[in-house]
Amino acid sequence: MSIILKTEEDLEGMRIAGQLAARTLEMLTPHVQPGVTTEELNRLAHEFILDHGATPAPLNYHGFPKSICTSINHQVCHGIPSDKRLKNGDILNIDVTVIKDGYHGDTSMMYCVGDKVAPYAKRLCDVARECLWLGIEQVRPGNTLYDVALAIEKHAHANGYSVVEEYCGHGIGKNFHEEPQVLHYADPSLKRIELVPGMTFTIEPMINQGRKETRVLGDQWTVITKDRKLSAQWEHTLAVTDDGYEIFTLREGEQSFLPQTA
Ligand code: MF3
Ligand code: CO
Ligand code: CO
Repeated sequence: MSIILKTEEDLEGMRIAGQLAARTLEMLTPHVQPGVTTEELNRLAHEFILDHGATPAPLNYHGFPKSICTSINHQVCHGIPSDKRLKNGDILNIDVTVIKDGYHGDTSMMYCVGDKVAPYAKRLCDVARECLWLGIEQVRPGNTLYDVALAIEKHAHANGYSVVEEYCGHGIGKNFHEEPQVLHYADPSLKRIELVPGMTFTIEPMINQGRKETRVLGDQWTVITKDRKLSAQWEHTLAVTDDGYEIFTLREGEQSFLPQTA
């Protein structure tokens, strides 16, 4: 086990990378419309990231062919942008990771495409977002990654949803993926991972409408739900501070998104 604790200089680098990743998601928002292709969104993000003196981390990462991940409806994560057009009523996750001056910022969010997203799909997106924030709220010195995972799992299950187990959050910094693994379900092994100031990691729960099981498509990347029901994911990159957390990938005006009744 070797979790890399970050220096003040590292944290400043991650702040800048995280903000650029957040700005990229914001830039994409008005372009997420029925009829647009995910390749067009990829191109916009790629150019925006380069224009800001950074690199899209997914491009060529273990052979990934594009600069962002776009995962639609029953796609869980790692969807590959293509010439497929978004439809009114789709739900879409866009996952952006940039490398700026050697540091990574990794964040994703759900977009509702058009005005015909079904209430049950919107509710899945909202509950997944609440799961992320309930996890974030557990981040403070003395707590463990188990507290984070338990808060996420409880809320997902209370709403009749399942939590994906095969993919997880991760330590991040000069590396895209480093220790620790941030599982989003309450695995007892997480009780040993105590949160310490200077740790930086992502929380990125994937919440399924149906069963938790996933499979990978023939393109070797796109992860889908086995039962083809919907999946939703939100992700932030954060640091453990002396008294809690600092989120590096907050969007403009973004505030905590917690359930109305806890
Ligand atoms: N951004 C994803 C994450 O949150 C990883 C994407 S890896 C890729 O960890 F190769 F698919 F891009
Ligand atoms: Co990501
Ligand atoms: Co991530």
